[in-house]
Amino acid sequence: MKKKFLASLMAMVMVFGLAACGSSTDATTTEGEDTATTEEGTTSGTGGKIGVSMPTQSLQRWNQDGANMKAELEAAGYEVDLQYAGDNDIPTQVSQIENMIAGGCEVLVVAAIDGSSLTTALQGAAEKNIPVIAYDRLIMDSDAVSYYATFDNYKVGQMQGEYIRDALDLDNAEGPFNIELVTGAPDDNNVNYFFGGAMDVLQPYIDSGKLVVPSGQTEKAQCATANWSTEESQKRFENIISSVGYGPNGVKLDAVLCSNDSTSYGVQNALQAAGYTADNMPIITGQDCDKPNVKNIVAGLQSMSVFKDTRTLAEKVVVMVDAIMKGTEPEINDTETYDNGTGVIPSYLCDPVIVTKDNYKEILIDSGYYTEADVA
Ligand code: BGC
Repeated sequence: MKKKFLASLMAMVMVFGLAACGSSTDATTTEGEDTATTEEGTTSGTGGKIGVSMPTQSLQRWNQDGANMKAELEAAGYEVDLQYAGDNDIPTQVSQIENMIAGGCEVLVVAAIDGSSLTTALQGAAEKNIPVIAYDRLIMDSDAVSYYATFDNYKVGQMQGEYIRDALDLDNAEGPFNIELVTGAPDDNNVNYFFGGAMDVLQPYIDSGKLVVPSGQTEKAQCATANWSTEESQKRFENIISSVGYGPNGVKLDAVLCSNDSTSYGVQNALQAAGYTADNMPIITGQDCDKPNVKNIVAGLQSMSVFKDTRTLAEKVVVMVDAIMKGTEPEINDTETYDNGTGVIPSYLCDPVIVTKDNYKEILIDSGYYTEADVA
């Protein structure tokens, strides 16, 4: 069903895309943009306006994602309407997307705050045959979604679980070891994969008793953190520390599974306030390689982060957009994993990479992602 929809969509895109190109030049009013588009469409490439909707400016990664995509789309000759939805404000994201649809955008790239809250807004895109690329997070319950571009989210979780397994040498060491679990926003579909991937590795050790979760909080809902907020994860972890009695001189905490860096940072704050230092910090995971977290990795306060190079994802999406605008099929490498409730969404999954104190220079500095000064 999805395939049929896509086939007719591609046909419509070719026709509509050409038609919309003409009209969008009149309607392009993106603030502060030095648009090179003219009535004749003299920009390079096919030209046209692309809407990019990002969830928040309060986390480093989304600023980078948005900025990278805007720069690359512009370099490819497109005009870009880039919007951030305040600080994860769902109604703001809905109205920004509605404005993009009304304002002549020909492709939408959307990183949803709440994967299930865009069904109605995206009906407008489907009606106008505007293809939608779900960016990083899958948009649920909408058949307006044509493609999904992300990192391999299950693998991210798996890498975190395997890191803990190997660092504690769970297959050989006697144990038992104490672990606590922290994941992200319950309305972010990625959480199912991050938490699921990690728990597929760790659950057998919990079942055998080699890993123990003293707080008793093992369900995804109990481990969730609204909006991936650092403050929320810090608060929850302070409660766990005091209820279990963790501390450098108290109950030993061996590892904390954290699904990403913003939640990991909150956990590290709580542990430091309880007296932990680089000398006795438990193993702590993360994701994104946010600057404050990389600093903590270097300082020995966080064990690892999973690096998702936002430049790679942005690049991939720009190629996808360009293919759609040219009426060709974008490259995809997964047609099985991501069902959004209306069918499987053809996806492109980029590869995540583990970063530790040992390889951060090579992966983050030598590649030009950060300067030494950024993470000193
Ligand atoms: C992204 C992560 C990010 C988190 C919080 C997830 O959907 O995949 O990279 O850390 O959202 O913004």
